[in-house]
Amino acid sequence: MAVLLVLLVLLLTEPGFSQTNNHDNDTNDRIGYFCGRNAVTSLPNFVKNRNTTLSDLRMQLLSKRVVYAKAQALSAGDPVFAAAQCRNYLSVDRCVACFDAGVSELTNCSAANGYVIFDNCFIRYEDFDEFYPDPYFMMDGTGSQYLSCGNNQSTFNQGVDGVLSNIKDATPKTSNYYVASITQVTSENATVYATAQCIANINQTICQTCMNAAYDKLTTCLPSTQGRFSDMACFVRYSELPFFDDNQTTDITTVLKGEAGMPLVSNTRNKSNVNCNYDMIGHSRKLVAVVAAAVGGVVLFFLILVLWLFYRRKKSKKTAQGDFIYVDFSLILTD
Ligand SMILES: *[C@@H]1O[C@H](CO)[C@@H](O)[C@H](O)[C@H]1NC(C)=O
Ligand SMILES: *[C@@H]1O[C@H](CO)[C@@H](O)[C@H](O)[C@H]1NC(C)=O
Ligand SMILES: *[C@@H]1O[C@H](CO)[C@@H](O)[C@H](O)[C@H]1NC(C)=O
Ligand SMILES: *[C@@H]1O[C@H](CO)[C@@H](O)[C@H](O)[C@H]1NC(C)=O
Ligand SMILES: *[C@@H]1O[C@H](CO)[C@@H](O)[C@H](O)[C@H]1NC(C)=O
Ligand SMILES: *[C@@H]1O[C@H](CO)[C@@H](O)[C@H](O)[C@H]1NC(C)=O
Ligand SMILES: *[C@@H]1O[C@H](CO)[C@@H](O)[C@H](O)[C@H]1NC(C)=O
Ligand SMILES: *[C@@H]1O[C@H](CO)[C@@H](O)[C@H](O)[C@H]1NC(C)=O
Repeated sequence: MAVLLVLLVLLLTEPGFSQTNNHDNDTNDRIGYFCGRNAVTSLPNFVKNRNTTLSDLRMQLLSKRVVYAKAQALSAGDPVFAAAQCRNYLSVDRCVACFDAGVSELTNCSAANGYVIFDNCFIRYEDFDEFYPDPYFMMDGTGSQYLSCGNNQSTFNQGVDGVLSNIKDATPKTSNYYVASITQVTSENATVYATAQCIANINQTICQTCMNAAYDKLTTCLPSTQGRFSDMACFVRYSELPFFDDNQTTDITTVLKGEAGMPLVSNTRNKSNVNCNYDMIGHSRKLVAVVAAAVGGVVLFFLILVLWLFYRRKKSKKTAQGDFIYVDFSLILTD
């Protein structure tokens, strides 16, 4: 009951949209920030566990050069489960700098759970671990959404809409849920820089749902020259000005064509070979194969059934059961 009450308070105090601008590449401006209201049983234990997980995360981002890290500390009660993610286009140094900025914000939460969302990174810690696969766990469906639209207006409406639509479709299909694209919109004489990232550890459905929300919200920013969306599961940003290097782009055209993503970082080698049956031609080939297999299976099934019935009939010609089975069989046939 107490938990429910705390939950209710959390839900009611969820922050909403913010409208800010003037973000820069490395100012590590905050997009979203939240401190929970959970009460810890022992403050020293909680602080110790939080410190342990946060330094574990930092170590992973720095030494293992990963963009996503998970850590937990459960000793002496007041467990802390934490995760951090940097945007894939960042250098390790910039990633860690963002992480450090985030940690100093989160210490404001004192003895409570919290999260902080920056342009460049995301940090979250809780006293439960269900949020790893389900970022909206204990939240009302989507959790908090943050939208930030720039104040400058431009003419590149159509172009941005198209780009955002493409990355919405492509991101959940990449193996690392990450896209960065630079699009020249010749008709509008503009260049659109856009990136999207879903948090690791979630399934494609959640990533796609979040991307759909991001698209719906960000298109309301237009004709703003820049926009950002974030919630617990994903981050999407577009701008007329560059915020990642040209050599950091990912190839979304192959993903959109239906092939497997070609991520910058991949653990699976020869993925293109494995997944080449996902292109358009492969799809119809796959369909033919599936139909053939299904037809073959049905034929085989009936063949075996007929043989079995013959056998049964021979064995027990005089019982009523044989006839009953025949009735069943015809029912199957006419079905
Ligand atoms: C936890 O970290 C903060 C700063 O990050 C530090 O001031 C504090 O002493 C640390 N506490 C423990 C118990 O390590
Ligand atoms: C956290 O505390 C620092 C120092 O008191 C302050 O500058 C900063 O704005 C605070 N952050 C939030 C999100 O309240
Ligand atoms: C995706 O993950 C969520 C949260 O764990 C779960 O509720 C949902 O059933 C999953 N969907 C699929 C298709 O696996
Ligand atoms: C917005 O416009 C101002 C003044 O025209 C300019 O200095 C600034 O760079 C613009 N910002 C963006 C993000 O386009
Ligand atoms: C396109 O933009 C560039 C720089 O912003 C400008 O110099 C050029 O005149 C523009 N071209 C057209 C056709 O508007
Ligand atoms: C932001 O980053 C992009 C790409 O790295 C770079 O081209 C641009 O000059 C940077 N902008 C600022 C204000 O540092
Ligand atoms: C990308 O380009 C920047 C300079 O623009 C360079 O510092 C960086 O090493 C390059 N990264 C890769 C992966 O090639
Ligand atoms: C990738 O596939 C090629 C040809 O199918 C094979 O020669 C090569 O060893 C494979 N590479 C890896 C890393 O599996």
